[in-house]
Amino acid sequence: MKKKVLALTLAALMAASLTACGGSSNSNATEAPADTTAADKTEVAEGGKLVMVTNAEFPPYEFHDGDKIVGIDAEIAQAIADELGMELEIEDIAFDSIIPEIVSGKAHMGLAGMTVTDERKQNVDFSDTYAAASQKIIVKEDSEIAGPDDLEGIIVGVQLGTTGDLYVSDLEEQNTTVERYSKGFEAVQALSQGKVDAVVIDGEPAKTFVSQTAGLKILEESFTDEEYAIAVKKGNTELLDKINAALKTLKENGTLDEIVAKYITAE
Ligand code: ARG
Repeated sequence: MKKKVLALTLAALMAASLTACGGSSNSNATEAPADTTAADKTEVAEGGKLVMVTNAEFPPYEFHDGDKIVGIDAEIAQAIADELGMELEIEDIAFDSIIPEIVSGKAHMGLAGMTVTDERKQNVDFSDTYAAASQKIIVKEDSEIAGPDDLEGIIVGVQLGTTGDLYVSDLEEQNTTVERYSKGFEAVQALSQGKVDAVVIDGEPAKTFVSQTAGLKILEESFTDEEYAIAVKKGNTELLDKINAALKTLKENGTLDEIVAKYITAE
């Protein structure tokens, strides 16, 4: 299974670099360090643009509100941009394109409720973490599936390229069938239509999706525990240091807690 994920990542990378080659002949190529490509747009300069990539199908971290992208990550990114004196621009793309966009230098940072994993660390650098999360299992209210051990041999829906996908794919050896959807909510809809037996997805979007769909419940036991962080291009320590400094300020002055409290009500 790892192979498939890798193949997908490579394909996306190739597509990304093809577009990068076709792109603009960059005006400030002279200023770019020798080891970055001309298409690298991740300069960090006060007054400049700070480009964030995300996949806005993940409430309460990022979702559409009319023609705006809102949510915890969008607000954290805005607060970081404010700290850096830069103008935030948000690009909404497929989740599995986020890392390739960062690698190819088309965006400064990825905020997408993105879990830190060793595999991803081979391609990008991560900031300090800003949230704890876990993969949860959603089933029908009358389901006999009671916990992670019951995922063997059934059909499980996930969002393509997420850690849910990664970990459930390990169960393919135990005869589990994995259905991969481009949006998490599509997996939840498939569950309510009886096309899959369970969905594995991050806890907060699970709560949102279940509250919007009749007849579903979230199992208590988590599948995995994880942490979210911001992804930047490997080796871009200037940007990473600035992001970490901004995060530290936002943690210390209470802004981060305020943002989270706006979207997640404590139980
Ligand atoms: N935390 C999971 C991961 O890193 C899922 C993130 C999905 N995020 C999104 N914006 N769709 O793989």
